[in-house]
Amino acid sequence: MNTSGPFKHILITGASSGIGEALAIVYAAPGVTLSLSGRNEARLAAVAEACQKRGADVHYSVCDVTDRAAMASWIATRDQAVSLDLVIANAGVSAGIGESDDTTRRIFAINLDGVINTVLPALEFMRPRRRGQIALVSSLASFRGMGGAPAYCSSKAAVRVWGEGLRGAMASDGIGVSVVCPGFVTSRMTDVNKFPMPFLMSAEKAAGIIQRGLAANVGRIAFPWPMLFGVWLLAALPDAVTGAFTRLLPKKS
Ligand SMILES: NC(=O)c1ccc[n+]([C@@H]2O[C@H](COP(=O)([O-])OP(=O)(O)OC[C@H]3O[C@@H](n4cnc5c(N)ncnc54)[C@H](OP(=O)(O)O)[C@@H]3O)[C@@H](O)[C@H]2O)c1
Repeated sequence: MNTSGPFKHILITGASSGIGEALAIVYAAPGVTLSLSGRNEARLAAVAEACQKRGADVHYSVCDVTDRAAMASWIATRDQAVSLDLVIANAGVSAGIGESDDTTRRIFAINLDGVINTVLPALEFMRPRRRGQIALVSSLASFRGMGGAPAYCSSKAAVRVWGEGLRGAMASDGIGVSVVCPGFVTSRMTDVNKFPMPFLMSAEKAAGIIQRGLAANVGRIAFPWPMLFGVWLLAALPDAVTGAFTRLLPKKS
């Protein structure tokens, strides 16, 4: 059964593992073209094979999202092959062992510049057609800076706020824009966390929630709701109260 809804050509960055892999698999179906990217060719090829087995036409490319020219070229090539319906800017990193100076710059380059390098070339093709959907993967961590991950939280805040603004800006062009804000999801990113992760969910479950939200063109796809409520409260409380609480939270080490 084709469950991809209106999307016949879906491009996903960071498709070689975790949420991106689960999204590729959930969208894989006969009649669907998938364009997938990541840096690890072996993992990317395995995901592509799994999607092909589900009947999708799959193309993958080893491409670093920080390489602006390479991303523009790849997205143009894929759009010329089959016009893009849905682009999911999912690739992202967090600091495995704390945010050093270099790590801070790397996090912003991948999580923010990488999303920009994905979204802008896609919009260039979608806007003249007045059709298409963009998803920017942010995080529930975007709602309040945390001492354990300042660069990660702020890179995700920039992605969320940019996406929210783009949604308004693109509405008159007929382009849907959704911001995805997951809580803790099982993936290579969270596998390294040694602290308790409340409401941790599987990447498959997260992909299903994201798929349903994108089909309905929901502006902010944020889940799970108890975590959403928690971060909403943290952002709403007086800064001194939130600051005192967040200082108690575990840091990556
Ligand atoms: N897991 C969570 O709890 C959680 C919660 C909220 C938001 N998110 C967000 O969800 C997205 C996916 O993360 P995940 O949890 O699925 O982690 P993951 O399993 O580590 O997947 C990250 C993906 O991003 C790709 N990637 C990283 N740097 C890249 C680069 N420079 N160029 C191209 N691709 C790159 C990786 O590809 P390679 O491995 O091939 O390099 C991989 O496919 C991220 O944006 C993350 O911030 C995750």
